[in-house]
Amino acid sequence: MLNDLLKRNLDWSRRRHAEEPDYFARLATQQSPEFFWIGCSDSRVPANVVAGLDPGEVFVHRNVANVIHSSDMNLLSALEFAVDALQIREVIVCGHHGCGGVKAATEDLPHGLADHWLEPIRRLARQYAIDLAQARDAEARRDKLAELNVIEGVRRIAETPIMQRAWARGARIAVHGLIYGLKDGLLRDLGCSIRLDDATMEAVQCR
Ligand code: CO
Repeated sequence: MLNDLLKRNLDWSRRRHAEEPDYFARLATQQSPEFFWIGCSDSRVPANVVAGLDPGEVFVHRNVANVIHSSDMNLLSALEFAVDALQIREVIVCGHHGCGGVKAATEDLPHGLADHWLEPIRRLARQYAIDLAQARDAEARRDKLAELNVIEGVRRIAETPIMQRAWARGARIAVHGLIYGLKDGLLRDLGCSIRLDDATMEAVQCR
């Protein structure tokens, strides 16, 4: 299995080099991505592939069910580096329909550590119980919950001191919420973006 993987890597590297001889030399000396992607660890939602971006174009952080914990040092370190050092322009929180992590958060089964990790999604499910009850079936309810988790994630990212500091110094960084459909391969804008308003110089939600 590993040998297959290494062989595919060798083929890819040779092909890439043949297409653009200075490709690796250029990437090795600098990365200047426009995007910071916060997504689910799900193997079916790789940031570069679904967004059609090449290596070097998106800085990525992924965890189970793309949960934004305000004290997650891993996420905060990546966010700080993306904002302050890489000076990315767009932060994207991307969830997906059919998310196993969201499903686990809606089940009355013990999942060990994952239950601690997924607690914010359980909280959202309680908070929006009336809205969610209107979904036509359990799958639609979970997909709606996945969207609420993204919208909540966008808010939480915007509330971090890292983003607040960046906006206070006038950095033009927007935070967006997207949902990916496993069944059609499409990214959809959830219309919950937060960006700096040019008139007031304050971060505001916009559609
Ligand atoms: Co997922």
